Amino acid sequence: MFNNVIVRRPCRAMVEGITSNPQLGKPDYEKALLQHDSYIAALKECGVAVTVLPADERYPDSCFVEDPAVITRKCAIITNPGAASRNGEKDEILPAIRKFFTEDQIEYIKSPGTLEGGDVMMVGDHFYVGRSVRTNEEGIRQFIAILEKHGLSGSEVTLEEVLHLKTGVNYLENGNMLVSGEFVHKPEFAQYNRVEIPEEEAYAANCIWVNDTVIVPEGYPAVEKAVRSLGYKVILVDTSEFRKLDGGLSCLSLRF
Ligand code: GLY
Repeated sequence: MFNNVIVRRPCRAMVEGITSNPQLGKPDYEKALLQHDSYIAALKECGVAVTVLPADERYPDSCFVEDPAVITRKCAIITNPGAASRNGEKDEILPAIRKFFTEDQIEYIKSPGTLEGGDVMMVGDHFYVGRSVRTNEEGIRQFIAILEKHGLSGSEVTLEEVLHLKTGVNYLENGNMLVSGEFVHKPEFAQYNRVEIPEEEAYAANCIWVNDTVIVPEGYPAVEKAVRSLGYKVILVDTSEFRKLDGGLSCLSLRF
């Protein structure tokens, strides 16, 4: 059950955000704001209180608040984003985290460790961590040590093709997991009810569970159908402008 969500409004500079898909074009800022409004409305419909942080023009990718922090049942971990242009976002998320957590509940990934929240997938009290271009071995070592200090656990998952772990695999609670591409046959996930996402809808593997509702990106009928057939209530949100920056539904919020 989530009670709170933190989001940050997209900034105008988002058009300069990092992307591996320049062929999709630059995001339309006004459209991104409208999509962000719909995202917030969908979250509210799921019964959470939404803290909306102001746009930060210094960081083009700063609407993707999932990366500079990871929030667990026991503690909040300020990460050390591996993308240089995003690293400073960790200092800007901290005041928001301090509104919900005391100092002894806040932990930090320190250099040379790097870690981004998009590489962290929570399954109960266990956290899968993707070793990616943004999250390194030392970051994972620190992260797992922090988890264990708080009575939680973590394990590494290697990834080769996608940006972040949750680009391709997302847990929907109740044993259900959406898997695409390189994650379809990962032995780590064999124990879950894996729902394979067709390649042409791979982007929509990034859905989020919020209190028994699953928010699904609009325009991916096979994924929508699969999630509905698992018995969840579905809310569709168009994320086309965030997709242009490799961003998805999970990247846009911290849920706790
Ligand atoms: N554009 C989001 C990211 O690369 O982190």
